[in-house]
Amino acid sequence: MTETFAIQLCNISKSFQGNKVLDGVNLKVKKGTILALLGPNGAGKTTTIRILSTLLKADGGEAFVNGFEVSRYSKKVRENIGLTGQYAAVDEFLSGRENLEMMGRLYHLGAKESKQRAHELLEQFSLTEAASRSVKTYSGGMRRRLDLAASLVATPPVLFLDEPTTGLDPRSRLAMWDVIEKLVEAKVTILLTTQYLEEADQLADEIAVLDSGKIIAQGTANELKAKVGKERLEIVVHEKSSFKKAVEILNIEAVEVDESRRSISISTEGSVGEIRRLLDKMEQAGIEVEGLNLHKPTLDDVFLRLTGHKTEQEREHIDS
Ligand SMILES: Nc1ncnc2c1ncn2[C@@H]1O[C@H](COP(=O)(O)OP(=O)(O)OP(=O)(O)O)[C@@H](O)[C@H]1O
Ligand SMILES: [Mg+2]
Repeated sequence: MTETFAIQLCNISKSFQGNKVLDGVNLKVKKGTILALLGPNGAGKTTTIRILSTLLKADGGEAFVNGFEVSRYSKKVRENIGLTGQYAAVDEFLSGRENLEMMGRLYHLGAKESKQRAHELLEQFSLTEAASRSVKTYSGGMRRRLDLAASLVATPPVLFLDEPTTGLDPRSRLAMWDVIEKLVEAKVTILLTTQYLEEADQLADEIAVLDSGKIIAQGTANELKAKVGKERLEIVVHEKSSFKKAVEILNIEAVEVDESRRSISISTEGSVGEIRRLLDKMEQAGIEVEGLNLHKPTLDDVFLRLTGHKTEQEREHIDS
């Protein structure tokens, strides 16, 4: 079992001041694959990563990295992992190159090897040009790339990336995706956390959804999509008086109904034929459609579909 899985969580629980954050989490990541742990703010993603990277002790259950149980063999585990935190952990006053060389020395690489490794990583992460500048002058995206490079100095077989693209602009996000994809080609096992369904879809072999301390769904992007639907179609009805009738007509497929906005959302394959069929139905019933919105399912759509409730964030947003 330890040969196939690089990461395993067995019934892990963790509370902070009586507040249960992880409530029996089970998760396995196959060697050489990438798993995205998807969840809203406060779901327990960082807590899970901190337990796996030996920074935090679980209250119950067992966790393994490359076969080593994290609390008993924490030194071995640390030798097997690289970690990029949610907040970049590089030294502001050193240059990019100095940061990476220092990291090499911390990993006992020797001066020459540290230099060589720093050089390779700067190239790989397109930071060569900025290498001699102090990190203070770097943009957010450059910092994230340097932070990821720093976690790879010792070429660990297992890598934890905690929200690697949060706060990046779309271009830097794509660059980061590129880098992550290259790592998987190099057979690194990656557990990454994200709040973006799209990111999980793009990068991960498997996606696990964490909510209220439990894994509520796990599977490939396609398996999850089969549950959630490929696209969301929102239909806004023109007349309040015909809203009820519209709901009745679309009821079988409705995911979310919002009477105050006269809006009905359904899960669809997104094909033109399907949309036309739905509109025909409405027309035949004499219901005027005011607006149509087609979008990819968001994290909130996933949660609504899988749990029947919205994420805490979305609820707070609505309450306020
Ligand atoms: N050291 C701590 N002491 C007390 N509570 C904590 C501590 N660390 C985490 N928590 C709480 O545990 C819950 C889960 O936190 P965690 O950081 O794991 O969430 P997350 O999924 O990473 O969220 P985000 O998307 O915001 O990064 C939160 O309610 C948080 O306030
Ligand atoms: Mg976090």
